[in-house]
Amino acid sequence: MMKETRYLTFALTKGRLAKKTMELFEKIGISCDEMKEPDSRKLIFVNEELKLRFFLAKGPDVPTYVEYGAADIGIVGRDTIQEEGRKLYEVLDLGFGKCRMCVCGPESARNLLNGQELIRVATKYPHIAKDYFYNQKNQTVEIIKLNGSIELAPIVGLSEVIVDIVETGSTLRENGLVVLEEVCPLSARVVVNPVSMRMENERITDLLSKLNGALSCEEGGAE
Ligand code: PRP
Repeated sequence: MMKETRYLTFALTKGRLAKKTMELFEKIGISCDEMKEPDSRKLIFVNEELKLRFFLAKGPDVPTYVEYGAADIGIVGRDTIQEEGRKLYEVLDLGFGKCRMCVCGPESARNLLNGQELIRVATKYPHIAKDYFYNQKNQTVEIIKLNGSIELAPIVGLSEVIVDIVETGSTLRENGLVVLEEVCPLSARVVVNPVSMRMENERITDLLSKLNGALSCEEGGAE
C-alpha cells in the first residue's frame, strides 16, 4: 500500500503579507480558492489536490507555530523572526514587504546617540532594540515596550528616541521625526521547522526552488 501523503501546513502572516504570498504561490501553481472568499470567518484553508493547508496568524505568532511544528512553513517579516528568537530555519528572502528597522527621533536627539548617555528608547521590538544598543553600539539604554503608534513616544516625552519600522517614512515626516540610525533592512522571509525540513525535505526543497525561480523571473521582468 502507498504511504499517504501528509498535509504540509503553512502559517501566513495575516494581512498584506499573506495576500502577497498567495499571489506568489499562484505563480508556481499553488492556489487556494477558499482563501479568496472575502466574508469568510474560516481559519484554515485546504488544497486537497496538493495536500497543502494554510492558516492565517498574527505576525509574532507565526514563528511560534513553526517552532512547535504546528506549521511546517511560515511566512513572516524578518523583524518578527529577530524579535521572537525561535528555533527555526530562515530559508528564503521573498523580497516583498521591504522596509527598515531604524532608530528615529527628533533631529535634536542625534547627539544623544554618540555619547554614553542613559537614554530611553520606546519600541515594539525590545529584543532588537536591546541587541542594537547593548551589543552593537555598547550604549546602556532604558528600553520601554509599547504596542503601537510608537512615534508618539518622543513627541509626548516618554522617550528620547524610538526603534521602529520605517517603510515610506511618511509617519515620521508627518510627526516631525527623522531616521537617526539604521538598524537593519527587513523583508518577508520563509521559515521552516527543522524537523519538517528533514522529514519533508523533498517537498520543501522543491517548493523553495520553484519560489526561487518565480522570484528570479520577477526580478528579470519589468515591474
Ligand atoms: C508601522 C510602523 C510605523 C509605520 C511606518 O506601523 O510602526 O509606525 O508603519 O510606515 P511609513 O514609514 O510608511 O509611514 P503600523 O502601521 O504597522 O502600526 P502601529 O503603529 O500600530 O505599529
